[in-house]
Amino acid sequence: MDKVVTCVAPVNIAVIKYWGKRDEHLILPLNDSVSLTLDCDQMHTKTSIIAGPLINEDSVWLNGQIMSIERNERLKKCFDLIRNLIKIQKGKNSQEEKWKIKVCSENNFPTAAGLASSAAGYACLVYTLANAFGLVNKDLPSIARQGSGSACRSIYGGFVQWTAGVDDQGYDSTAVQIAADTHWPEMRIIILVVNDSKKKTSSTVGMKQAVKTSELLKYRIQKCVPERTKEIIQAITDKNFEKFAEITMRDSNQFHAICLDTYPPCVYLNQVSHEIISFVHDYNEATGQVKVAYTFDAGPNAFLFIQQNDLSLFMSELVNVFPTVQPNSSYLRGIVSTLPNNI
Ligand code: PMV
Repeated sequence: MDKVVTCVAPVNIAVIKYWGKRDEHLILPLNDSVSLTLDCDQMHTKTSIIAGPLINEDSVWLNGQIMSIERNERLKKCFDLIRNLIKIQKGKNSQEEKWKIKVCSENNFPTAAGLASSAAGYACLVYTLANAFGLVNKDLPSIARQGSGSACRSIYGGFVQWTAGVDDQGYDSTAVQIAADTHWPEMRIIILVVNDSKKKTSSTVGMKQAVKTSELLKYRIQKCVPERTKEIIQAITDKNFEKFAEITMRDSNQFHAICLDTYPPCVYLNQVSHEIISFVHDYNEATGQVKVAYTFDAGPNAFLFIQQNDLSLFMSELVNVFPTVQPNSSYLRGIVSTLPNNI
């Protein structure tokens, strides 16, 4: 009897960035990170799988193109880990771990453009496979992590922390929900797609180079992240927007400073990204309060955080300064997203 399941997983946006691994193979990070998971109605991956005794080989299609599982170590690892879990949870007599699986996955937004596509992609793959085989959820963040680190955070909705852990095998490196999506209903995320082409330096390569060459990265891990993580969790718990916003912007700026401190440097922001940063600071200064925050992943696209009451005034200013923010623009597109649901 074939199993057919479709799931949708949203992207997550880090406010304390993960950058740097202590173990490349198990994908164990050097530092804790914190993120917000978007609503499934917005940027997401949709994955369908069919598995059964009559399927003759594993195959994965992404956005209409077949991927080589053999040449993609992380994809292969996720399949192996899921099969291992089937063996553990279903017992030796189950034949299901031998079944072949066909996967068809699509992103409704640009892939590999610094918009967290791999986070949604691997979270969705692992979650869909687990659903198809009726697997218990507690191991899923660890499996998704081994596809793409930040994917472990997309397993949960709301506000999520990925604890780096200290264990060599990574048993304590997993995602936990800090607060549910309903905790801060006024929070909104605006995504400004500045450039949706594929990034020049992948996160994997950028991080590896940073670990090898950046002095600033060592300082960040030891001196900044532990305190910041505690503070931002407190700000989220208290719904203290100003505090949340300041830590978010500082952390994004420090992450991109590390990218520049990497040798040779990794440049992810462009002129428009810098204009957005200035615009947000000018706006906050003019209002006399911190009303808006920005963060940028490994790409030039901006993620802005704002509370519902401040949204319409800010959007009208934004459209004034960046007229091309109107829908259908290929230069800068704005999507207003509400926060979030679980998959
Ligand atoms: O999970 P990866 O390998 O795509 O790395 C994600 C890195 C950042 O998006 C820049 C930061 C983060 O914590 O999501």
